Amino acid sequence: STARLIFDTRLPIGEVNRRVFGSFVEHLGRSVYDGIYEPGHAAADDRGFRTDVVDLVRELGVSAIRYPGGNFVSGFRWEDSVGPVESRPTRLDLAWHSTETNEVGLHEFASWLETVGSELMLAVNLGTRGTLEALDLLEYSNLASGTALAEQRAAHGRPAPFDVRMWCLGNEMDGPWQLGHRSADDYGKLAAQTAKAMRAFDPSLELVVCGSSSAHMPTFGEWERVVLTHTYDDVDYISCHAYYEEKDGDLGSFLASAVDMDSFIASVVSTIDHVKAVKGSDHVVNISFDEWNVWYNERFEKVDKLTGVDNWPVAPRLLEDAYTVADAVVVGNLLISLLRRADRVTSASLAQLVNVIAPIMTEPGGIAWKQTTFFPFALTSALATGSTVQTRVESDTYETAAYGTVPVVDAVTTHDPETGRTSVFVVNRSQEASTTLSFDVSELGSLGAWSAVTLSDADPYAVNTLEQPERVAPRENTSLAVSPAGAVTVELPAVSWTVISFE
Ligand code: AHR
Repeated sequence: STARLIFDTRLPIGEVNRRVFGSFVEHLGRSVYDGIYEPGHAAADDRGFRTDVVDLVRELGVSAIRYPGGNFVSGFRWEDSVGPVESRPTRLDLAWHSTETNEVGLHEFASWLETVGSELMLAVNLGTRGTLEALDLLEYSNLASGTALAEQRAAHGRPAPFDVRMWCLGNEMDGPWQLGHRSADDYGKLAAQTAKAMRAFDPSLELVVCGSSSAHMPTFGEWERVVLTHTYDDVDYISCHAYYEEKDGDLGSFLASAVDMDSFIASVVSTIDHVKAVKGSDHVVNISFDEWNVWYNERFEKVDKLTGVDNWPVAPRLLEDAYTVADAVVVGNLLISLLRRADRVTSASLAQLVNVIAPIMTEPGGIAWKQTTFFPFALTSALATGSTVQTRVESDTYETAAYGTVPVVDAVTTHDPETGRTSVFVVNRSQEASTTLSFDVSELGSLGAWSAVTLSDADPYAVNTLEQPERVAPRENTSLAVSPAGAVTVELPAVSWTVISFE
């Protein structure tokens, strides 16, 4: 089949915010311990951080990293994680039925972030704790000197403040699984009170209020309306979370997951703007899509989940999904959705980063390797610069059980007038056939050296593993042809993700 892209460069959708390429490290499974941190490993630095993992995180191109949870944060006492390591208490983690040693805490994580070159995005516990503890953490983190908490931080070896800009007001408070889960009304009041108090300390903080844990929550839509009615002028972002998985062998629906993300974003934008109108506010609230990925959650619920009052392991193997080529195509497509709404999605976090539903895997004492999903993220982070260009996709359609009729091809384009870089990110969701994609770049002013890279495989279920860590990798797409007048054609294999870029 064939597909065609048509650009309108006159009205860019919005500037691509680097924060869209954020990620997430939760104290969960082997994300921190035996993940980023493994003191006995041959590649560990003098702080115990694996330098091979640091190199991969840098290559992935991650902007801000959300920390320390996730569900974990709703039972977390931040004070446990600072001060001399030998005096830190070991605690139960009720969210993941594990034991938290607190060997890595705020100072260690911030120091690791400086090494990887990413920004810290902190979540406060509004599940089992409240406004006071959030204020204490804020003062400890961000006040230069002169109070007990600021001096305590300095005494713990960090005289300069961490200066954390982005703060999440709790995590997934709409979810019945969340410790301290509340109604929209109760959470909205608590979030407003906490936001106001944090802003009394520093009005320039960027605050994220909890939206829905998925667009399929029974409270979705109403939750956003009520929570924003309480908090609208005191926050900058409302969060969205979404995870996708192939269910019952329905690959066609799974490959169209971005259709769901598109409508999720559109609904939340409408709700934000509804509340703005009702309030007559000039303030703009945007979306922080601060958990998104493919996650085989069904497998976790049925196989991995830990139970038992005497069973609280340290850093168990949890949520260690091995990602297929099809998963990577979906991840690439979800990035296309996020970029398409660059006007309103101004922050996002791939959940998560290492070992736990992650693009990077490690073996204790062994290698670190890239999952299939690493590639679309790294390439999009590197090549999506400037602004999102209006892009119309003309393509065949197919039927899905989950989302009805959907296009076979989906794409987004970014253009950076400063560097002249143009990038077209595109997926072919067909399981049967390749598609010939064509477009004309003469209007973009990008005539010349184009290149194309494609991720695909004869087996859409191929994965990278400890035994075969380089089984799947993106390849140059040699079918790319560009005429002197700017007519581009390229073959997109079945179940594939491609970036075509001009520098
Ligand atoms: O990322 C894994 C979990 O998914 C997070 O802890 C939680 O916020 C979400 O339900």
